[in-house]
Amino acid sequence: FIKRIKIKELLKAEPTGQEVIVMGWVRTFRNNQFIALNDGSTNNNIQVVVALGMLDDDTLKRITTGASLKVTGNIVPSLGKGQKMDLTATSIEILGDCDAAEYPMQQKKHSLEFLREKAHMRFRTNTFGSVFRIRHSLAFAIHKFFNDKGFVYMHTPVITSSDAEGAGEMFRVTTLPMDNPPRNEDGAINFKEDFFGKSTNLTVSGQLEGELAATAFGDIYTFGPTFRAENSNTTRHLAEFWMIEPEMAFYDIEDNMNLAEEFIKYLIAYAMEHNREDLEFLAQRLAEEEKQLPADKRSELGLIEKLEFVLNNGFERITYTEAINILLDSPAYKKKKFQYEVSWGIDLQSEHERYLVEKHFKKPVIVTGYPAAIKAFYMRMNDDGKTVAAMDILAPGIGEIVGGSQREERLDKLMQRMKDMHIPTEEMEWYLDTRRFGTVPHAGFGLGFERMVLFVTGMTNIRDVIPFARTPKNCEF
Ligand code: 4AD
Ligand code: MG
Repeated sequence: FIKRIKIKELLKAEPTGQEVIVMGWVRTFRNNQFIALNDGSTNNNIQVVVALGMLDDDTLKRITTGASLKVTGNIVPSLGKGQKMDLTATSIEILGDCDAAEYPMQQKKHSLEFLREKAHMRFRTNTFGSVFRIRHSLAFAIHKFFNDKGFVYMHTPVITSSDAEGAGEMFRVTTLPMDNPPRNEDGAINFKEDFFGKSTNLTVSGQLEGELAATAFGDIYTFGPTFRAENSNTTRHLAEFWMIEPEMAFYDIEDNMNLAEEFIKYLIAYAMEHNREDLEFLAQRLAEEEKQLPADKRSELGLIEKLEFVLNNGFERITYTEAINILLDSPAYKKKKFQYEVSWGIDLQSEHERYLVEKHFKKPVIVTGYPAAIKAFYMRMNDDGKTVAAMDILAPGIGEIVGGSQREERLDKLMQRMKDMHIPTEEMEWYLDTRRFGTVPHAGFGLGFERMVLFVTGMTNIRDVIPFARTPKNCEF
């Protein structure tokens, strides 16, 4: 019995002639003698050495880039430079042929644009190997972080009948015949006849359901897909993205900020410890890519240094009003470099957020106390009657990565706010009950998972950190 071993584990072993089985895909085949074989457990390949005369010419021709193999052999110290060991093959079985003329993943370096076109094959490249192993690791770390703190993982529904953010950016879910839907007398579609007897949509956030659970369990978190039909074709927006939403009873805005900062740093530290090799690969990739940029567009720090810096420094904490004043005082504003206007009351645009983190503070920034008018109905009104206890975390290279707040726990104030914002309270009695029965101060936030993966991997387009990206006019497979 010979044991099958993954290449990542194999490369850690001492090459003492032991016999193993390795299965994977051919990256390259040199001189009819050396196969670089990869199995996705690491970007590193094992070099398979094919003895002269071991395979007939026909079989040799079938060992092409992309073909899948089962290799049995012995692990021996490598005679070649650059690798510790070779796998001297005693038998090679071709599991699947790969026609070199048809195969899109050639050995040369492909552009990320090209790979987005071939998204179904891009997992087989080193860049995406590293990105998605890190993504996996971060997902695991998220559960570990909250589990260790005694939070309960709460599964909130994908199909809902509410609009948590009140922004109207929802994908409708319906089984009504779209060519001829049932209609009311006034001509409007009659959703009473729909599957759920009302109009439903894909969730934009699990927060409201999360609040129900937090006001019973104390500390909960959600981690699931969320959907936004916002038509923004940017490098930071997806129509389907994953969000982590912790919700904590008895937390105020300060506790909320502390937890969010600790959480982000924990995830970075986790990747630094468990994904070093992949991070170093991506750091190198980024450095090479930045060499193509003009000097003033290059980052001051490499990827690893950036992550270390964020780990070792506190996030800057400022109010929205301070943020506006910094922007009004900035050379960028005075030289009319901002595309969007700056004045108290605006929603900070990505260019403003990035100015604050990249040019002014040069570190992550937490902004609190946004104007009530630009924030969701559930945020707690501050004593000034103008601003709410909101907090957004802005990250260098990305902008908003976290959105959160202390929630309005006072029933009368919450209902007033909902009325002002034309949110029908009768459909949200279930939510208001949390405030009617044993209401407590509570707070929570949402971390956009892909934006976090962007930050850790140093990738620049959000389409490249989710396995199957959904963006406007793009929903392949
Ligand atoms: O700021 P948002 O809209 O906040 C909420 O949904 C709250 N219910 C969160 C809470 O308090 N529990 O979204 C939170 C985060 C953003 O900061 C951003 O990182 C990410 O979700 N996000 C997106 N990521 C990718 N594509 C999109 N279209 C995103 N919209 C928001
Ligand atoms: Mg937000």
